[in-house]
Amino acid sequence: MPNILTINKLKNAKRVVILTGAGISAESGVPTFRGEDGLWRNYNPHELATPEAFERDPRLVWEWYNWRREIIHPLEPNKGHRFIAELERNTSCFTLITQNVDGLHQKGGSKNCVELHGNIWRVRCVKEGRVFGLLDLPLKDIPPLCGCGSILRPDVVWFGESLDPEVMSKAYNAVRDCDFMMVIGTSAVVQPAGSLPLIAKENGAYVVEINIEKTPISGIVDESLIGKAGEILGKLYHEIQGH
Ligand code: OAD
Repeated sequence: MPNILTINKLKNAKRVVILTGAGISAESGVPTFRGEDGLWRNYNPHELATPEAFERDPRLVWEWYNWRREIIHPLEPNKGHRFIAELERNTSCFTLITQNVDGLHQKGGSKNCVELHGNIWRVRCVKEGRVFGLLDLPLKDIPPLCGCGSILRPDVVWFGESLDPEVMSKAYNAVRDCDFMMVIGTSAVVQPAGSLPLIAKENGAYVVEINIEKTPISGIVDESLIGKAGEILGKLYHEIQGH
């Protein structure tokens, strides 16, 4: 249960930032990366999520993405996604930053979402750099091709790639400027996302973490709430509504 200070801080916050990771979507059924059944326990990211892997075997990489798209497609946003969308509607200055590529925040009603690692429903032409949505399921061709005849890649960030500087600058500006930050369902081990809560803290924000276990940032946050994101956010919603 969130403590009274957290509830009051959130009620009175003017500029709110939420940072999410795979844990927010876990209760919807999306696999996380580093948990017990995490994707990186069973699959080697170097074979599936690097530019070198894609160059070596685009078909293999796309088969893996096609499989993940098939898992994600029927899944619904959970209470956590919905709470975040509701908070956005009721906060004048609000930024959602996510490391997730599943699109469940948008499906849950979030409008303004800074996607640090891209989106699994978008593709990018490796020749022209053009980005567009591709929702076919299963994909008609693996690998899918652009109208220009060139190969398409998932519009996601792979290991060894830099994040889009414009996207990063939105995220940095929001965390530097916020007075309340909530970090939900991330192991906080992947940079630069993992350091965003530290920047918020250094700039005077009240920072809360929600996770089923302690993480490397648990020691620096103002409150570390241990439990499932959907359940804790459900309680928090109830509290800030004044019930
Ligand atoms: P991880 O799989 O590393 O971490 C998920 C976190 O969610 C863990 O700390 C879990 O304890 C927590 N968790 C699991 N279920 C939860 C629940 N129901 N409620 C709350 N917390 C829960 O995923 P990320 O931190 O998102 O990057 O990983 C960061 C990046 O690493 C991903 O975006 C991906 C991956 O490699 C790329 O693909 C570029």
